[in-house]
Amino acid sequence: MTIAEAYSKYAKLAKEKDIYSMDVRRLLVHYEHLRDQLDVITEGKREMQNLPAFEEGMKRLLNDEPVEYIIGEAEFLTRKLKVDRRVLIPRLETEELVATFSERIGDYFNPRNMLAVADIGTGSGCIAIAVKDSFPNFFVYASDVSSDALEVAKENLAGSGEEITPLLGDALEPFIKSGRKLDVIISNPPYITEGEYVQPSVTNFEPESALLFKEDDNVYQKILSRLDEVKKGPIVLFFEISPELVDYLNKLMVKYLKDYSYEFMEDSNGFVRFLVIDVN
Ligand SMILES: C[S@@+](CC[C@H](N)C(=O)[O-])C[C@H]1O[C@@H](n2cnc3c(N)ncnc32)[C@H](O)[C@@H]1O
Repeated sequence: MTIAEAYSKYAKLAKEKDIYSMDVRRLLVHYEHLRDQLDVITEGKREMQNLPAFEEGMKRLLNDEPVEYIIGEAEFLTRKLKVDRRVLIPRLETEELVATFSERIGDYFNPRNMLAVADIGTGSGCIAIAVKDSFPNFFVYASDVSSDALEVAKENLAGSGEEITPLLGDALEPFIKSGRKLDVIISNPPYITEGEYVQPSVTNFEPESALLFKEDDNVYQKILSRLDEVKKGPIVLFFEISPELVDYLNKLMVKYLKDYSYEFMEDSNGFVRFLVIDVN
């Protein structure tokens, strides 16, 4: 079977299951060691060299498994990161969170200073690496409560060539315990609320501990309630959020913060997706 024949056969099957044909091309690039998706066309006449492995990958794709887990890699801004089922696949919204951070940080601090920045709930390490890529002078921490997730983050941190400090622990605890003080927190915590529709490819494959928000046990509350213990002066928080959580987060700020200002911001799809809080 040629690459073109394999693509034609499996793109048809994928379409029947509402799976993007782009994902079939990504599998072909991976298993046939092509340079990029254009090669699926330009190298189309070439015989498949790894047909059984590609077909095994296709079986997983047709079973709704995200293509990133099958190929073990996800793109985030300028980076390719290792991912597997221990970590969330980085999303476009989180690229926007990092863009918001980059645009706004200069409103609060001189970005030439060596700011201490914590990415809490780092997962694959995508946010920490992107922040360090843009601001090499910042001191960046990447923390997660899941030791499984932090193992993946550590591999990506090491592969990035950036100096980033990984920390294991619940929300601010590893910082409080080690006496580390922060200027900025950036976090994309679990925020899917009960009853919210989530695609089966997400719920069946991505780690539940990375997805689900619980009102009595969540990262937003854990951070806001103990902020004083990690502040060295004014501190700025950049959160990714669910639009469903706006009321809850307003109440949380009133409960735990005193001298602060905040802004909810929309993502490019028009959903309230980010919360920036400036605490004096
Ligand atoms: C939505 S994922 C985000 C992963 C990554 N930052 C990203 O944007 O792709 C949330 C992450 O927070 C971690 N997490 C959940 N509860 C936590 C807690 N209490 N303290 C620290 N990390 C936590 C999960 O293990 C998961 O890796």
